[in-house]
Amino acid sequence: MTATKIDGKAIAKEVREEVKAKVAERVAAGKPKPGLATVLVGSDPASEVYVGMKKRMCERLGMESFSHTLPADASQEEVEALVSKLNADPTVNGILVQLPLPDHLDEEKVLQAIDITKDIDGFHPINIGRLAQKGREPLFVPCTPDGCMYMLNKAGAKLEGANAVVLGRSNIVGMPMALLLVKQNATVTICHSRTKNLKEICAEADILIAAVGRPEMVKKDWVKKGAIVIDVGTHRIDDATKEKGYYLTGDVAYDEVAEVAGAVSPSPGGVGPMTIAMLMRNTLRAAEIQQD
Ligand code: GUN
Repeated sequence: MTATKIDGKAIAKEVREEVKAKVAERVAAGKPKPGLATVLVGSDPASEVYVGMKKRMCERLGMESFSHTLPADASQEEVEALVSKLNADPTVNGILVQLPLPDHLDEEKVLQAIDITKDIDGFHPINIGRLAQKGREPLFVPCTPDGCMYMLNKAGAKLEGANAVVLGRSNIVGMPMALLLVKQNATVTICHSRTKNLKEICAEADILIAAVGRPEMVKKDWVKKGAIVIDVGTHRIDDATKEKGYYLTGDVAYDEVAEVAGAVSPSPGGVGPMTIAMLMRNTLRAAEIQQD
């Protein structure tokens, strides 16, 4: 069996085109461009790259972006004061505080300070709380798990009653992913660093979400025949034989897993582009919520 490739790059392009067209419609109707404000505290190189990508994507889709950078030693009060200013600014529809924050800052308090109608990352405790509760709906869902759900739907996954295994329990991916799958009536197992018989549990999964952060950890014998596998990991592996001196890979050993799975998303080219597309979609939705 050779798995279908779940082409996140192509699916993300469709999502972005839909967002771009809706933004253009709003602007043609005399409404302001949706605006995304990013807050970066410190100068972590990876975070700088992510924030830069988000800013450029806003421009490509006809949206405004406002970049704010605070020094690594910014105080809790300074970060919260910036968030309050952005909450009050009508040109800002979405606020993204890039995580992780430096250790001395209280992340929960910063996220709690964001107006929930501008919480396009879906990390505000109210939005996460609603995601965790039956019969309640968050205004926004975290972008990476939202992108994974979108890809699962595109791949034709039947979630109701499915055995879903989520590898990883982070606040950004694993936990909200598990909550989203439960909302769709999957039976969900969350695995983490203390899980026993990890391989055996994964091998029972109809849906397997790999968000562990270990290069190519998920091998062929971890995957049930016909399962749908989503690879959330991205790793840069040094390799002198490559032109760039490195290559990118995910949490899944793609080539061998594709021999048994029904469908697999690659990394790169899978979840990465979906995350940013969902962020753009959330920013547009924030503008709709606030202005329509
Ligand atoms: N750091 C890694 N992923 C994310 C994300 O989706 N949003 C924010 N704000 N920070 C991140």
